[in-house]
Amino acid sequence: MLRNTELPQAPTATVTGLISEISSTGTDNIRGGYTRPVYSTAELDLRNWFIEQATKRGLSVETDRNGAIWAWWDVAGGDRTNSLVTGSHLDSVPGGGAFDGPLGVASALVAIDILKARIPTPTRPLAVVVFPEEEGSRFGVACLGSRLMTGAIDPDKARNLRDPDGSTFADVARANGLDPRFVGRDEELLGQIGAFVELHVEQGRGLIDLDQPMAIASSILGHGRWRLSVRGQGNHAGTTLMADRHDPMVSASRMVVAIRDIARSHPHARATVGRLQPVPGGTNVIASRVDFWLDVRHPDDAVTAALVESIHGQAQRIAAEEGCGVDLREESLSPTVHFDTALQKALQLSLPEAPILDTGAGHDAGVLSPFVPTAMIFVRNPSGVSHSPEEYVVDEDAETGAATLADALHGLMA
Ligand code: GLV
Ligand code: MN
Ligand code: MN
Repeated sequence: MLRNTELPQAPTATVTGLISEISSTGTDNIRGGYTRPVYSTAELDLRNWFIEQATKRGLSVETDRNGAIWAWWDVAGGDRTNSLVTGSHLDSVPGGGAFDGPLGVASALVAIDILKARIPTPTRPLAVVVFPEEEGSRFGVACLGSRLMTGAIDPDKARNLRDPDGSTFADVARANGLDPRFVGRDEELLGQIGAFVELHVEQGRGLIDLDQPMAIASSILGHGRWRLSVRGQGNHAGTTLMADRHDPMVSASRMVVAIRDIARSHPHARATVGRLQPVPGGTNVIASRVDFWLDVRHPDDAVTAALVESIHGQAQRIAAEEGCGVDLREESLSPTVHFDTALQKALQLSLPEAPILDTGAGHDAGVLSPFVPTAMIFVRNPSGVSHSPEEYVVDEDAETGAATLADALHGLMA
């Protein structure tokens, strides 16, 4: 563990002030919004910013062997049994919003300020955590840091994941100060967590429709990612007659529409193709292969499995009709999660008016949930849009969120 402790100062911060401090980090002039993949310059800058913020608050900063950063406010004596943990992530999707992840981190820092003004030392150890690669934007597996910590992914599989440039997670981890031999389940750290509470911007319209500023999470829809590779025959765009083609792009396009139609026929299902890559990818070239990634979500894991099976069958039929072939491979799968009801009830003491909402978005809290009591607080997003620059939180809601998080953590110390 790397330790980084300095003498405490007494910063007074606001959530919007902290978010604006990082507003120029990782801006994406082409896509709009922010592009902050794990271990990119932008995400490393944010990690350093977080370490600076935590150090200023007198927290003891450690990076664990899976790359998560922990900022501890210890109890007298330093025992970390039954710790309270809050926090989120700082990486983003390509062209993402300003709040998905950073809102939870900034709110946690402000909650520490609020609590430090109230109590000299916590009665339960309190940590703010920043998980790496929550979005899976670089290595393809969402919540990679928390999956490694809990053992939800085989370390060998993780070490061999590749980013779009072909670098393995092992190489990138090593270049960023981790020893890839030691990534994987962290029994000791996991055993120290008594409860994890993640505050997050709401990523849909639930709170807008209910006209409420905050909600407590009930569950996360099961979700997964699959990669489809459609094989055809690469050829010349000008000399190949339409009747002679085996064009994987045409197959893939038909598959995308079929996926939409299959999902539409199942209430509560969501299926998305948001990334498609022709090989070799030339304007005057019929592709030889098209890879695309499928994201499927449903509250019932058996339905998710049935949807993927039906999509696979349909993709094989379409590929055959177009003279192509297709392979489907699972990249990650997260079962439906129901958060700890005792912790939900404890949060209700600080959020008596808050509705209990489920979400279709994945979170590190969901990965931790089978292992430690876990809860989430959602803060209203007036745009109802996320994974987009349009994601938004009004200042007043952001500050109320942090104050509520502080109250909730304080309540959990009793
Ligand atoms: C993460 O935000 C996800 O739900 O994909
Ligand atoms: Mn996200
Ligand atoms: Mn997030």
